[in-house]
Amino acid sequence: MSAGRAWQVRPARATDLPAIEGLLISADGDREVLHQDQFVVSVDIDGVVVGCGRLRPYSDFCELASLAVGSQVRARGMGREIVNGLLERYSGPIYLICEDGVVDFFRRFGFVSILDREMPEGLRAKWDYFADLAGPMNLMLRRENLPAVRCPDDPGSVE
Ligand SMILES: CC(C)(COP(=O)(O)OP(=O)(O)OC[C@H]1O[C@@H](n2cnc3c(N)ncnc32)[C@H](O)[C@@H]1OP(=O)(O)O)[C@@H](O)C(=O)NCCC(=O)NCCS
Repeated sequence: MSAGRAWQVRPARATDLPAIEGLLISADGDREVLHQDQFVVSVDIDGVVVGCGRLRPYSDFCELASLAVGSQVRARGMGREIVNGLLERYSGPIYLICEDGVVDFFRRFGFVSILDREMPEGLRAKWDYFADLAGPMNLMLRRENLPAVRCPDDPGSVE
């Protein structure tokens, strides 16, 4: 944990899965088949999981999904560091499905909005499920081999 900061981001462990599920229930997130290898988590100074996100692999792309930061600990940079941690894991195309309120958040990382007709077939069932549940959704894509997007205060910054 870096000095002056009371949380860190790390790969998830099997023992984190109940806390991950709890976070995703609170955030109405994607809880389909939770596997620790896909997740990174943010943990507080007591080791409590307070944020999570995952990359779900498909044959020729990944999906960024199940991103949630506890409502009490938002706006501290955790969401950004979780996303950056996930982007470091895969340089190919990454898709995501999200609500209107987080489109601008994901644009910060190089995701662009695309039309649903450009959606890989593997995402169609999820798209239909969440559209029924929450109304029209957004489909976004981060194309392959984009450079990492970092802010100067990120621990992994190369500056
Ligand atoms: C979206 C979410 C993960 C952001 O987490 P967070 O820890 O509060 O975000 P951060 O503090 O890392 O924010 C990083 C930057 O993004 C900005 N940001 C945060 N949420 C934003 C939003 N909804 N829209 C636009 N910008 C946003 C912050 O202002 C910050 O900007 P800065 O670098 O200029 O200071 C969190 O609000 C959340 O869990 N929401 C509910 C679940 C959800 O919607 N998940 C996405 C499902 S796909």
